[in-house]
Amino acid sequence: MSERTILVTSALPYANGPIHLGHLVEYIQTDIWVRFQKQRGHRCFFVCADDSHGTPIMLRADSEGISPEDLIARVSIEHQADFKEFSVAFDHYHSTHSEENKTLSTLIYQRLKEQGYISSREITQAYDPIKEMFLPDRFIKGDCPKCGAKDQYGDNCEACGATYSPTDLKNAVSVVSGAKPIEKDSVHYFLKLSGFTEMLREWIHGGHVQDTVKNKLDEWLEQGLQEWDISRDAPYFGFEIPGAPGKYFYVWLDAPIGYMASFKKLCEKEGLAFDDFWREDSTAELYHFIGKDIIYFHALFWPAMLTGAGFRTPSAIFAHGFLTVNGEKMSKSRGTFIKARTYLEHLNPEHLRYYFAAKLSAGIDDIDLSFDDFSQRVNSDLVGKVVNIASRCSGFIKKRFNNQLSDQCAEPRLYQQFIDRNETIAQLYEGREFGKAMREIMTLADLANQYIDEKKPWVIAKAENKDQELHEVCSMGINLFRVLVAYLKPVVPVLAQESELFLKLESQRWPTTFKPLTGHTINQFKPLMTRVDPAKIAAVVEASKESMEPVADAVVEKKHEPIAKTIAFDDFAKLDLRVAKIIKAEAVDGADKLLQLTVDIGDETRTIFAGIKSAYTPESLTGRLVVVVANLEPRKMRFGLSEGMVIAAGPGGEDIWVLAPDEGAQVGMRIK
Ligand code: MSP
Ligand code: ZN
Repeated sequence: MSERTILVTSALPYANGPIHLGHLVEYIQTDIWVRFQKQRGHRCFFVCADDSHGTPIMLRADSEGISPEDLIARVSIEHQADFKEFSVAFDHYHSTHSEENKTLSTLIYQRLKEQGYISSREITQAYDPIKEMFLPDRFIKGDCPKCGAKDQYGDNCEACGATYSPTDLKNAVSVVSGAKPIEKDSVHYFLKLSGFTEMLREWIHGGHVQDTVKNKLDEWLEQGLQEWDISRDAPYFGFEIPGAPGKYFYVWLDAPIGYMASFKKLCEKEGLAFDDFWREDSTAELYHFIGKDIIYFHALFWPAMLTGAGFRTPSAIFAHGFLTVNGEKMSKSRGTFIKARTYLEHLNPEHLRYYFAAKLSAGIDDIDLSFDDFSQRVNSDLVGKVVNIASRCSGFIKKRFNNQLSDQCAEPRLYQQFIDRNETIAQLYEGREFGKAMREIMTLADLANQYIDEKKPWVIAKAENKDQELHEVCSMGINLFRVLVAYLKPVVPVLAQESELFLKLESQRWPTTFKPLTGHTINQFKPLMTRVDPAKIAAVVEASKESMEPVADAVVEKKHEPIAKTIAFDDFAKLDLRVAKIIKAEAVDGADKLLQLTVDIGDETRTIFAGIKSAYTPESLTGRLVVVVANLEPRKMRFGLSEGMVIAAGPGGEDIWVLAPDEGAQVGMRIK
């Protein structure tokens, strides 16, 4: 096995919010892979950083009344504390708002420009005359130009599915100030991506991305690559573009360069040669772990930028799926939008590491955290199978043999069987098939427990003249435990380290050639891990409900949503609000945000299309009581006729709540 040189990254988390369990899928996945490479003796470096630029961060700082610099400094400390406690061990953690990143972003931009890949032209955009800033699509709301539905975001209508330019919205308002946006021209800079089409086609087919990802990328290439707008106008929190005063690099331009910048800083710290990793003909391996939502940036823009600027491209992009909790999208109202910090206050981080490992594969399927499954896996595998071996055997070793293992191995064949699996398990780790690796390891743990069950040391212990046998059986158990822990070390580093302490061993390498420990003295056994306490899980969910901190954009929106024109009481009295029961809820083909609801309003059944898909799954709605406007004129939508409206409130996304009538409510009841 020759030594490899490997540089690994996880995507850079945005500096405007806390780390949550969804993020952790990625950081834990990457960390396991990196720890595995290091344990195998490779030269492997793991870098990351906070993604600190962009409009949402600027506005968040604004709404907190602090500078963006202060905001990102605080968040950086919080992020790093979370990572540390989950044993996500970066070799360096940086910020995109750094000198290194500014230098590299400028360099890359200038090289792209010299090569003729940058163009500029004037474009027209919505502008907030009060806040004096251009408005990204998601910061504008208004009525759909096609169907008139109110309160639609930037560029598409949730009600009728129309897509349009934000400047077409009727009665548009800036969600930042409530002002009516005006149109304004300004010069923007673009990266001419089409010049990279052939290069990208080749790269995508060169084994650098997963097959499913390749297909998606091919589709995008088929559609043709547009020029990519890489500039934003002041005010913007980012780097000013050289030679273009008042223009800033769009956050997604300098974000991936942040990988290089973080590594650059590591090189300075540790005396590594940066160019050896990044020059065009570098033999170092470079891997980016990312979520499937940011493939476009990593597999198209990034390789193009690197190539255009004369740097190497990544060896591979490893995309993963999204985390769901109990089968549903993480949700603040259900208490399943769980922050890393909240988890840490109640539960053992290694439990989550093991659980994610058990669920992860090399694909991009979503992975589900089901709390029942979580407790069951951790309790039965880690505690019940692995740690149990040590606790079953160590008592006798201490009481009867003064903590010393026997001089010979009782079952060399069984022991060798454990060692012989090392290549298979290594290949599974290498290929990011962590779930399969865990199953292999647990199969071995089952064998170890079977061995102990058959030998029954607790029976031998009572027999006379069987000391030698007792000694060998228990020592055998300890030896098998030792190999299992070495296999699990990338996943549960703390458990591994405490086990090494118990076994009086140095940090264990990959068990390719381990000989059984004989005549070796160990330390007294202390419980290495306890079972998951269901009360703690409940506490996490409860605490997550309480910590429903609105995100920055939502705060801004809520604060500035203007009150509509006064209506007369008679107008209000015209509303026929009824308690309705949702009989059926289903997704609508081709609509991202709509659910088709069949509701019972007492005397009749109605079909209503509601834009609440981002907040509720169909299953969670069935059988539920809601309030509907029963006398709303039926509206023809692209997907069918909507015969009423469900009352809901919230800023959008998963933060939408249907109005739930109180217990005494009966279907059909009129609300007055
Ligand atoms: N800042 C960008 C990445 C820039 S990389 C040059 C970003 N940040 S993020 O904070 O939104 O997400 C960071 C990573 O976490 C992304 O890879 C994203 O896919 C991943 N995840 C965020 N939520 C997730 C889940 N719910 N589940 C799994 N991964 C998730 O994107
Ligand atoms: Zn519409």
